[in-house]
Amino acid sequence: MAEKKTFYITTPIYYPSGNPHIGHCYSTLACDAIARMKRMQGYDVMFSTGTDEHGQKIEKKAQELGITPKAYVDDIVANFKKLWKTLDIQYDRFVRTTDEYHIKTVQNMFEKLYKDGYIYKSEYKGKYCTPCESFWTESQLVDGKCPDCGREVTEASEEAYFFKLSEFAPKLEALLLDPEKNFLEPKSRVNEMINNFIKPGLQDLCVSRTSVKWGIPVTIDEGHYVYVWMDALTNYISLLGFMNDTYNDYEKYWPADMHVMAKEIVRFHSLIWPAFLMALGEPLPKKIYGHGWITFGDGGKMSKSKGNVIDPFVLCERYGVDALRYHLLREMVFGSDCPYSNEQMFSRINSDLANDLGNLVSRTVAMAIKYFDGTLPEEKEFTDADNELLEQLDALPAYVSDTFETMRFSDGLAKIFTVIARANKYIDENEPWKLAKDETAKPRLAAVLYNLLDCIRRVAILLDPVMPHTSPKIFEQIGADETNTTWDSASVRHALASTVTVKKGEVLFPRIDIDKEVEELNKLFPAEEPKGKDLEPLKPLTKFDNFAALDLRAVKVLECENVPKSDKLLKFKVDDGFGERQVLSGIAKYYKPEDLIGKTLAMIVNLEPRKMMGYESNGMILSVKYGDGYRVVELDDSVLPGSDIS
Ligand code: MSP
Repeated sequence: MAEKKTFYITTPIYYPSGNPHIGHCYSTLACDAIARMKRMQGYDVMFSTGTDEHGQKIEKKAQELGITPKAYVDDIVANFKKLWKTLDIQYDRFVRTTDEYHIKTVQNMFEKLYKDGYIYKSEYKGKYCTPCESFWTESQLVDGKCPDCGREVTEASEEAYFFKLSEFAPKLEALLLDPEKNFLEPKSRVNEMINNFIKPGLQDLCVSRTSVKWGIPVTIDEGHYVYVWMDALTNYISLLGFMNDTYNDYEKYWPADMHVMAKEIVRFHSLIWPAFLMALGEPLPKKIYGHGWITFGDGGKMSKSKGNVIDPFVLCERYGVDALRYHLLREMVFGSDCPYSNEQMFSRINSDLANDLGNLVSRTVAMAIKYFDGTLPEEKEFTDADNELLEQLDALPAYVSDTFETMRFSDGLAKIFTVIARANKYIDENEPWKLAKDETAKPRLAAVLYNLLDCIRRVAILLDPVMPHTSPKIFEQIGADETNTTWDSASVRHALASTVTVKKGEVLFPRIDIDKEVEELNKLFPAEEPKGKDLEPLKPLTKFDNFAALDLRAVKVLECENVPKSDKLLKFKVDDGFGERQVLSGIAKYYKPEDLIGKTLAMIVNLEPRKMMGYESNGMILSVKYGDGYRVVELDDSVLPGSDIS
């Protein structure tokens, strides 16, 4: 038997530096819909997603919370997985950059590129944007600031390994401009890459850091850790088993058919990634698709103060997974940004899903039940009046397939709904209620209803990749089965059994009272009150002397343990610069004792000793309210114990 054709599609691997939000859904939904369609078309599909877990941002966040970076990301990764489950994303592989096999691949690849002379050691001096973890050349800065986020950049310099990206500039330019390949879509991004990055001169790429320790260790030089993009981009081949023994799918699926992402990371995928692969002597992915952003409010970010927080879990629960899937894929025009609005989603649900699709299904099924007790008769009279609808249906599968696999979901879905509207018009033109009154017109009535049911079957097949919960419900209502709901059968006229039996089902998409619903959502996600300018004092004014009477010092934690029988207290031995002292603090709920050892903290050292749970406490460690708990006030490691705080 011939091997199935393969199809490999990827989402970016997301940073678990915060919980997933609706913005993260688009790439993943688009890939899921394409993967589902390709599976229906008989392809052996590999659809991958995952999380990009290393780097300074995550290291810092974990540090702030006093937990390990791995513990921090584990929680967030679980939330990403939960969201994908809720949205019914059928990925085949989920890669985490902390997975052993991925680490192996990155280390092996680094070694090979070093051995082959593509990686060299040097010193980096340049402009560095800490939040973006990106180095920029002077010419790339916008008004002296980071071109991605607009924030301040700083001079940075450290010993680092570099990848010879500059060497690949001519080949990359040729790749991007190759009219046969159309490597990067949309085309407008090709000019962006050439004008903004290749023409000004590609810089070699920093691929290791010594200051960020939350990363993959470089095996050939202790103290160096692989720097973000080399780690992240490699996921696309590590998860197939390239240079590791965990998987063995590289030969089968590589090169990827498409990498999908939003525009801000197109640069990394269309320049750096192909250059790595060229240096490795491996084939290049076939296509890079850089879509626009879902924007919120005035083209800006989601924010509590704007009251535009949209929780995908809540949306799925209230309106159904398919409504959200449909709305996002229908609204976003490939290449452009798309503002998200709940109102817009409600009107889409009402007009397209409830009115056009829902009504077509419920009216047709109801008429088949009313006029034929649910089972159509064999005898039918087809006429030329049926042709227009049938011809539109015939043209639909190829168009949908082409638009979906080139990320033009909006066009493909719009066309499906044009045909649905045509079918509704076909009902009005043929007036089944009039035919039903004339016994001799029964064969014509049967043909009209059969055409409608078969039309519904064909559009429901094409909608299946986008609305995987709805199509099976429709198939059940119209009496379709597995023989006439395959992708190929969407191209076949009248594949539904001639004497099909329909079944009344639930309303597919209840209409939404838009004003009421907007109000409900506003109650669920109220805009935050703007913060008052004046501080509300917690205590009355006091004399300066009262403050001056406190002896505040830096102390270093030498030992820390839980106090037996207390779930609140931690017992510390600290170095106060002059000797050791014991102190207790009620922060056991927020810290593991071992996480505090070695930290330099702020402490009042001249409080009268007092006993707590039988232990003497000599002073008070300062903490700050943090969410529902407390965090210790931590000082820089370089501060010596005993230093005066004033
Ligand atoms: N970790 C890198 C990607 C490495 S891929 C080898 C990263 N992560 S990210 O968490 O910031 O994800 C960025 C991606 O999330 C975007 O490219 C896009 O796919 C998706 N989106 C996040 N917010 C988005 C919108 N508001 N709108 C559309 N997509 C967005 O960059």
